[in-house]
Formats: sequence, C-alpha cells, structure tokens
Amino acid sequence: MHSELELDEQLDALDPLRHLRNDDELDLVPAQPPSIRNQTLQLSFPSAHVPDPVQISLLVDASPGCGGIAWPAGEVLSTYICRRGSLKGKNVLELGSGTGLVGLAAGTLGANVWITDQAPLLAIMARNVEMNNLSHRVSVMELNWGEPLASDLPRFDVILAADCVYFEPAFPLLVQTLDELAARGDPEILFCYKKRRKADKRFFNMLRKKFIWTEAGSG
Ligand SMILES: C[S@@+](CC[C@H](N)C(=O)[O-])C[C@H]1O[C@@H](n2cnc3c(N)ncnc32)[C@H](O)[C@@H]1O
Repeated sequence: MHSELELDEQLDALDPLRHLRNDDELDLVPAQPPSIRNQTLQLSFPSAHVPDPVQISLLVDASPGCGGIAWPAGEVLSTYICRRGSLKGKNVLELGSGTGLVGLAAGTLGANVWITDQAPLLAIMARNVEMNNLSHRVSVMELNWGEPLASDLPRFDVILAADCVYFEPAFPLLVQTLDELAARGDPEILFCYKKRRKADKRFFNMLRKKFIWTEAGSG
C-alpha cells in the first residue's frame, strides 16, 4: 500500500501548487494545473481476498475541474475497500467521484455502482468506465449535492465519498445529500478526507447534528 506521504509526493510532483489552488485568499494561483491533460495512470490496489491486485487504468485531465485528477483520499479509500474485499451484489453510490476512481474499484470488487458528480466531470468518468470494461456494473450519473435525489434510484448498501470536504459553501449541501441517502435505507457511509484547513471542522460540526461515526482502521 502507498503511504499517504508517498501519494502526496506523487501528486506534488504532478502539480506543485495543488495545495494552494482552493485557497480563496491566494487568488494569484491559477484555478487549475494546466499540466495535467489526458494522462493515464495505472493504479494497483492489493486485496487480501483475491490473488491479484485490483488494477485500475485512470484517465486524468484537470480541464473539466479539480475532480479530474486523482486525489489522495480517493486512493486511500480505494485501498481500504480493496483490502476489505468483495462487494459482490451490493448497490454502491459514490458522491463527488471526479475521475470515478473509488467507484471503479468498487465495481471491480463486484458491486453495482453509480458514480456521480457535476456535469463537467461526467465525460471523463464515462471514459474511465469504458477503459476499465466496467460498463455492465458502473453507471455514470449527474448528482449535485443539495438537489433532490432521482426517485428511481435503488436502495444503496454503501455510499462512498473521497476528498469531498474542501469548499465551504458546499458543506451544507453535502450534509443534506448524505442525510437524504441515509434516510432511504441506512447504508454504510465510507467517508475519507484529507485534513486541510480549520474550516473542515465546520463541516464535521454540521455532520454531527445528523450522524454519528467511527474512525476506520487500516482495513
Ligand atoms: C477533490 S475532488 C475529489 C474527487 C474524487 N472523489 C477523488 O478522490 O479523486 C471533489 C469532487 O467533488 C465534486 N463536487 C464539488 N462540489 C459538488 C457538488 N455541489 N455536487 C456534486 N459534486 C461536487 C467535484 O466536482 C469533484 O469531483
């Protein structure tokens, strides 16, 4: 397994300004790293339950928005679910999927997956589904946090969210969507995030009004 430090170093090498891009006070930093365009990463996640590691080919492209690259929490959550093993037959929804990485890992583990994000990210997610031959298990869907959920969605066993705590105005919207999903059938919610700034605390204070949680171990 990559350590979080190794992942950080890899991402820093790709985009040395990445920690500064979402800081509203540093408005001289370009919003997107122009260097990441149409690159394909080969990622491998060991699993104790199958002999071969889960392999994902991931197209990354920063042009549709920050979600178009691989974020550390996405790699950590993918590692976690692969270590836990099979998701055969489970219905899984991923919020803020970006490239779709975690949902693609869940699909490889046998789940029926809906990877979701805002409209600009849907094309890269669809290309990643195709590239990993997961069209039979992984669907791409627009889901804007805070908006009502489509009525024809199934009950979900697992909700995944990686690196979705970074933009303060979206905090109440994300809590609302998590709350609505939880009310539809009590799924397990696996939430992985990178501590960045003090404002993160506000998100967890909002979350605390609706949820209780425990910290996951290393799988
Ligand atoms: C930091 S990226 C993480 C992407 C991916 N989960 C990963 O770990 O690589 C955050 C994602 O949340 C999505 N997002 C932000 N605000 C959103 C909203 N209001 N509704 C839906 N998705 C949103 C972004 O488009 C982006 O893809």
